[in-house]
Amino acid sequence: MASRLEIQEVIDATDIVALVSEYVTLEKSGKNYRGLCPFHHEDTPSFLVNQEKKIAHCFGCGGGGDPIHFLMQIENIDFPTALHRLAKRNGITISDGYEESAKPNPLNKYYKIMDTTQRYYVKYLENSNSGEEAKKYLSQRGIDEETIKVFGIGLAPQSGNSLFQVLKDSNYLELDMTDCGLVDKNENGYHDFFVKRIMFPIFDEAGKPIAYSARVYRTEDKNQPKYINSKDTPLFRKKETLYNLHLAKGEILKKKRVILCEGQMDVIASYRSGLKETICTMGTALTANQVLKLKSYTNHVILCYDGDNAGIHASLKAIPLFLKYGFQIHLVLLPDGMDPDEYSLKYGCEAYVAYFESHLMDYHLYIFEQAVKDKNFADDSVVLAVKDEIFEMLRTTQSKTIEEQYLTRLADILHCRLEALITDYDRYCKRIPMQESVDIYPVEENNPIKDLEEEKWSARYEERLFMFAKQSKEKALEIDRLIEDRLDGFCPENLRLWIGLIDGYYTQYDEFDEETFISSLSEENQKQYEKIINHLRADINPYDEVDLQKCIEQLEIAKYKKRNKKLDEVMTKQTDLEEIAKTISEKFKNKQNQQELKNKRRK
Ligand code: UTP
Ligand code: MN
Repeated sequence: MASRLEIQEVIDATDIVALVSEYVTLEKSGKNYRGLCPFHHEDTPSFLVNQEKKIAHCFGCGGGGDPIHFLMQIENIDFPTALHRLAKRNGITISDGYEESAKPNPLNKYYKIMDTTQRYYVKYLENSNSGEEAKKYLSQRGIDEETIKVFGIGLAPQSGNSLFQVLKDSNYLELDMTDCGLVDKNENGYHDFFVKRIMFPIFDEAGKPIAYSARVYRTEDKNQPKYINSKDTPLFRKKETLYNLHLAKGEILKKKRVILCEGQMDVIASYRSGLKETICTMGTALTANQVLKLKSYTNHVILCYDGDNAGIHASLKAIPLFLKYGFQIHLVLLPDGMDPDEYSLKYGCEAYVAYFESHLMDYHLYIFEQAVKDKNFADDSVVLAVKDEIFEMLRTTQSKTIEEQYLTRLADILHCRLEALITDYDRYCKRIPMQESVDIYPVEENNPIKDLEEEKWSARYEERLFMFAKQSKEKALEIDRLIEDRLDGFCPENLRLWIGLIDGYYTQYDEFDEETFISSLSEENQKQYEKIINHLRADINPYDEVDLQKCIEQLEIAKYKKRNKKLDEVMTKQTDLEEIAKTISEKFKNKQNQQELKNKRRK
């Protein structure tokens, strides 16, 4: 690993303006240089570069950093690779034996194939007879040349293996093409997966094409499935991906809200209308993974699904998922079963935005109205079902006022006394347990869920530290000291509690006795204690000095992570480049500390 000094030397030596200029057109603006952010789509430049401070920073999306982190993000490479490229550029040698060619990204070959494919489909829409017909279709749907460019829309030709030939000519392996879901093999050999379809590329958050959603456009293909999507590939996991997030993310941060629709045509219509913070899932039910992904950008979602029954049903299913992750939720219900694309085409973009902004509905009201709509309350079983639906919604609110408002309205509709409903509501809350389970499935790298997993693990380290403290009075004191010295303000609350309890115990007794300890605990803590013991039942760690250090180091790593999360928040509020430079360098130090601890752990 390179030393801190070496890293600083590389940063200092880099001409950051020259470096960034290789990717962004910069103009001098006072002490800084300014340009369009390469990390998100924007029309007015909010990407600033400062030569002296050695930073590049986007005030729209927060992207950028020092030269090394800028290069990491823009080239999608890891820290050592970026460091060594910059070192080489500045004639600095770093003595850590690193060789770049030694570990290329195994996904690179797929990215290259997708890139070639994307160029091909775009060109084919541009320069072919079928392209003319397809463009006519798009234009009828309100999609002009400019929009085609922004969304990278392309066309898959009629003949069954044109793309395959192109990829073959570029010397890609058939197996890799198949892995990307672009070609298939049958008894006649290889053929294209997508034919005669308008190709909507799906980009990852960094703006690289990873998959397609493909629509029929010719009247004679009407009997075929309207859309075909890429299957899951090494680059693409449908259940985790959100269409248009790469373009929308800057706007989501700026507007502090995200609009979620059902289809890409709705996203495109919204974008055209100026609601650029719009994204969609692609014909599948929303997953917890997607919600978590959004959570890193905003806490406020507006669902604008199709106004038909299927759309309403999907909205009602999405609400609990967003609630679970603490979102503020609004919905917009378009009239006559329309979707955003149909509405904006029929009434115009301005009318769509006007309708949208003036029909934002709180989720309580949405659920309430859907529950009582067109119901026959002469039927008792209908009354009971509707009541339950509204009770379930009301228990998600923390507000007695809102509860009472809706119960009053419901009493009105059902022609009963409010008191009777309140009694039923209380009974319902006691009878039915709160729903908990959400379908998160495990995923690899770079995912917020991984962080959740890590949090769970760091909980185990806390628990183990408590087990250490139990061993003896001296150990408890030692751990007190370690927490003080090494975790400063970042000791997990749970650990603080248990160390406090054990310290209290040792002020009265010299030796640990399980039964005495338990009986000194409150009922709540007794349950908690049982849980901890259960968690660690199968734990085979040695609980020796080395192990103790490992636990503390793990919590230290978590400390630096938390610090950086806080700094990220701080940075979104900073408006002065000098301040941001300070934050970035502080973040950088935290990262280095974290890395050093991780390296130590590996040894
Ligand atoms: P919709 O049926 O609502 O399509 O499906 P749409 O967005 O209104 O499409 P247009 O306006 O007719 O072009 C919503 C989404 O579900 C997926 C697509 O991603 C679509 O955008 N879908 C739909 C499929 O995957 N397959 C299909 O056959 C249909
Ligand atoms: Mn539509």
